[in-house]
Amino acid sequence: MTPLDAQAVILAAGKGTRMRSARAKVLHPLLGVPLLDHVVRAVQSVGVDPITVVVGHQAEAVEAAFRGRGLAFARQEPPLGTGHAVLAARERIAVHPERTVLVLYGDLPLLRPETLGRLLDAHRSGGAAATLLSVVLDDPAEYGRIVREADGSVRAIVENKDASLEQKRIREINAGIYAFQPGRLLEALAQLRPQNAQGEYYLTDVIGLLRKAGKRVDVVTAPDSHEVLGVNSHSELAAAARLLRQRRCQALMASGVSIEDPETTFVGPEVEVAPDAVLRAFTVLEGRTKVAAGAVVGPFVRIVDCEVGPGTQILDHCLLRECVVEEGATVGPFAHVRPETRIGAGARVGNFVELKKTHLGDGSKAPHLSYIGDATVGPGVNIGAGTITCNYDGVDKHPTRIEAGVFVGSDTTLVAPITIGEGAYIAAGSAITEDVPAGALALGRARQVIKKGWADARRQQKAGAGKGSRGGPGGA
Ligand code: UD1
Ligand code: CA
Repeated sequence: MTPLDAQAVILAAGKGTRMRSARAKVLHPLLGVPLLDHVVRAVQSVGVDPITVVVGHQAEAVEAAFRGRGLAFARQEPPLGTGHAVLAARERIAVHPERTVLVLYGDLPLLRPETLGRLLDAHRSGGAAATLLSVVLDDPAEYGRIVREADGSVRAIVENKDASLEQKRIREINAGIYAFQPGRLLEALAQLRPQNAQGEYYLTDVIGLLRKAGKRVDVVTAPDSHEVLGVNSHSELAAAARLLRQRRCQALMASGVSIEDPETTFVGPEVEVAPDAVLRAFTVLEGRTKVAAGAVVGPFVRIVDCEVGPGTQILDHCLLRECVVEEGATVGPFAHVRPETRIGAGARVGNFVELKKTHLGDGSKAPHLSYIGDATVGPGVNIGAGTITCNYDGVDKHPTRIEAGVFVGSDTTLVAPITIGEGAYIAAGSAITEDVPAGALALGRARQVIKKGWADARRQQKAGAGKGSRGGPGGA
């Protein structure tokens, strides 16, 4: 179907009672993005327009989460059923009376664009008033059943709660994805009555109404039953996450990414991983993260919205957010890289190092136990163990500038704002409060004092005093 032959309505106004959550069901995260996002993405990729999302429960929050995505919204208040939800979009549908209406539920995150394409194609070539997607399940559970006539044509959809014992045995179920002729849909919606077990206006009743009016309804049966898993509970959310994860990992492996353990690897829908990258066990990649060829990530690493360059290594137990790691750099184990950080080519960030809003120059090293925040660090700098930028005075944040080739001795505090000039040396244990000129040595610590024999004398004194007592040498 060519794009502008069809429009779409996605239903996302329901409360999601079975989640037992204060949060709207469609906003629950799945692989790092809201549940509804997966559906929106599938619908957008088949090129239908416009796409109207029906919102109701927590409407503001749902709209806010999808602002700027080219979607239109319609409000359904209160939510009185799936048919009632489509009615909320009636005026929008009527704007394009010639465009097929694709109606689907916002809780179907595993749906593939190809399947939507097949449904739209079948609808166009079949010319029915409605074409719906069905699937055959071993356990039809809570899904609506497709009831057929003796000749195989569809008679109606019966909800599980309204089904007779005999109907409950039907294993062909309604996926919740339909293509309608707009005029036929709107006519049938107007006739809906909430006369059923749940007292709701069921969209599914539209099918029976169309049949009663002598219209044709076609069915496309999807081969992969997983694809239409509706998420109604946390348990189904977890099942959907598992399936999506597997699907993503399979596709990445097919494209040449090495994944040590797909069972424990999470790659979000917007993440890009290049061939020949290696994802070790328990790696979580979220947001708009990009991992380049030859990068080795994990085990036990979470990366959100980062660019991980070619040939880099992100070692065990690191958390990275909104940062760039340039070619050949090494991070971790146990590093925390916070937003707006750039780690230069070949640089090294070691264990228990936290970086925030910092540019670490090419080939620079912060190998152990440091906090570097609001800093610009030139190339070839060595930051000794235990170096701290004191960037916060309790009110404001201040910058630290460390120029090329500086050597910062261990256990240094750099009280910002401060600049350490090119090639300077900072003696270990210094508290640096004034700018250090290029090429200089800065010492910012008390001078060491030696008292010869002091320790021996004290020990002897203690031993003498403690004779016969329970204190003993060194006792307080
Ligand atoms: C629905 C179908 C069922 C089908 C199943 C597939 C109906 C009556 N039943 O059942 O035949 O097998 O999906 O997954 O359609 N919504 C609204 N407004 C409302 C009610 C629901 O927008 O007033 C939205 C929900 O947010 C949800 C979707 O519609 O995204 C489906 O609603 P849900 O309650 O999950 O329907 P099911 O009981 O799963
Ligand atoms: Ca559902």
